[in-house]
Order: sequence, then C-alpha cells, then structure tokens
Amino acid sequence: MTRRVDVAGLDEVEPGTMKMVQVGGDNILLVNLHGEVRAFQGICSHEYFELDRGFLTGDTLTCALHLSRFDLETGDALDPPAEEPLVRYPVVVEDGRVVLELPEGPIPYNG
Ligand code: FES
Repeated sequence: MTRRVDVAGLDEVEPGTMKMVQVGGDNILLVNLHGEVRAFQGICSHEYFELDRGFLTGDTLTCALHLSRFDLETGDALDPPAEEPLVRYPVVVEDGRVVLELPEGPIPYNG
C-alpha cells in the first residue's frame, strides 16, 4: 500500500535547485535535475546533516559536512565516509504539484 503526499508546487523547485520538505517528522529532499523532480531522504546516510545545506555537482549531490557525493539516479554513495545510499522515493507531477508516493507507515531511511 502506498500513500500519495502533495509536498510542493513544481514552481518551487526550479531546474538545478533543491528544496527540503517535511512529511510527518521526516525531511525529504526534492532535487530538480534537468527538469525532472526527484526525491531522496533529506538527511545524510553518514551522520545527521541536512542535505539541502550541501550542493549540486552535476548529476551528484555533495554533502557539505564530510563531502561524500551521492548519485542522483541511484542514491549511491560515491565517496567515503558515507557508505549507505540515500533512499529515493517515487515522484509524480500532477497539475503543477509535486506528489510523493510513499509506503504506509514509517518512511524508509538509511543511516
Ligand atoms: S554527514 Fe554527510 S558525509 Fe558525513
């Protein structure tokens, strides 16, 4: 079972930018990569650090605390010290809104 959660307007996440949103108590990071909005866990899988304080580097996201890069397709950690991937969540865009498709219950999160 999945639940659909409307988290932002598409115009709030311009191409090449990211935006943190909250679902319940969890942070989820929206990233607009080449016009496609993707969603990942918003906290680094290494230690507790908000990933919207990092920076987009091509098709990767760099955590600003210890500079691990994450692949924005798979969520994989590309450099130490992070080892676990970022969880990626399905996104649909409907009527100019960004909608997440999340499992019922706790949101999966690594780290
Ligand atoms: S907290 Fe992100 S790499 Fe350490």
